[in-house]
Amino acid sequence: MWKQENAEVLEVKRLLDDVFWIKFKAARIAQDAAPGQFVHVLCSDHYSPFLRRPFSINRLDKDELSVLFKVVGEGTRLLSRVTPGQTLNLLGPAGRGFPVNVSGAHVLLVAGGMGVAPMPALAHRLLAQGNRVTAIIGARNARYVFEAEYMAQCGAEVLVCTDDGSAGPRLTATSMYRELRDKGDVAYACGPLAMLQEMKQCAATPLWISLETRIGCGTGLCLGCAQPSGYTEDGQVVYRKVCIDGPVFHASEVVLLED
Ligand SMILES: Cc1cc2nc3c(=O)[nH]c(=O)nc-3n(C[C@H](O)[C@H](O)[C@H](O)COP(=O)(O)OP(=O)(O)OC[C@H]3O[C@@H](n4cnc5c(N)ncnc54)[C@H](O)[C@@H]3O)c2cc1C
Ligand code: FES
Repeated sequence: MWKQENAEVLEVKRLLDDVFWIKFKAARIAQDAAPGQFVHVLCSDHYSPFLRRPFSINRLDKDELSVLFKVVGEGTRLLSRVTPGQTLNLLGPAGRGFPVNVSGAHVLLVAGGMGVAPMPALAHRLLAQGNRVTAIIGARNARYVFEAEYMAQCGAEVLVCTDDGSAGPRLTATSMYRELRDKGDVAYACGPLAMLQEMKQCAATPLWISLETRIGCGTGLCLGCAQPSGYTEDGQVVYRKVCIDGPVFHASEVVLLED
């Protein structure tokens, strides 16, 4: 069950002009959190923007958790301006995370762009449970490769590829996944919709995906996050709620339509 907590900002790192990393002390949320879950953040204390903004739990360590995000609008712009010592109201741990009840498996993690955000906590947990982890990180160029070092330090084998070849081979994360898909026992992915669609089509093992569809209330009440999950016998679309049924789904549980 999620909790509401006034979390202290412990550290803020500006990784690029538009990409930030924030570490919070949020004991009540962090102690219950699982990789792939998210925190719903009140980005300001003056109700503008009114709605909270969702961010994947990026790293987890006892009483602390972090988020990694790109500035795209008002909420993330406000979030990028917080300073250590400030408190922000978080709701979490929200949603259903990645299944982590695996051990002795070879797990492929596939991240595209900011989809790398939930992977460090996931890699850390899977490695602690005796799995072998190969993390594929696809980014537009070398500057946009995040968390490779952290995951390597945790013990993951990290493979980087970029659109322009400035780090690793000039490949997309999906092309690299195609080359390796038979070698893993299970794959977990987060990234752009087109990447998840392509992975779903070519997956050779069970595939779990984290969706970053826009969400509203984050608590299952507003239906703002409805995601098609299949069809009834008479052709009606059946929906799942990304905020409580996800954001992580088995690929077969969702129909991935373009926005
Ligand atoms: C479960 C979940 C986890 C997420 N985790 C992360 C994360 O770890 N790091 C991160 O950088 N982002 C993450 N996101 C996306 C993040 O929540 C949005 O970027 C953020 O809410 C934008 O808020 P804003 O007020 O800055 O932008 P807004 O002013 O709300 O929007 C600015 C622009 O961005 C577009 N936009 C906003 N949200 C989304 C979205 N979800 N998908 C596609 N386009 C969008 C809008 O259409 C608009 O064009 C996650 C989303 C979900 C649902
Ligand atoms: S965001 Fe309101 S029901 Fe999911």
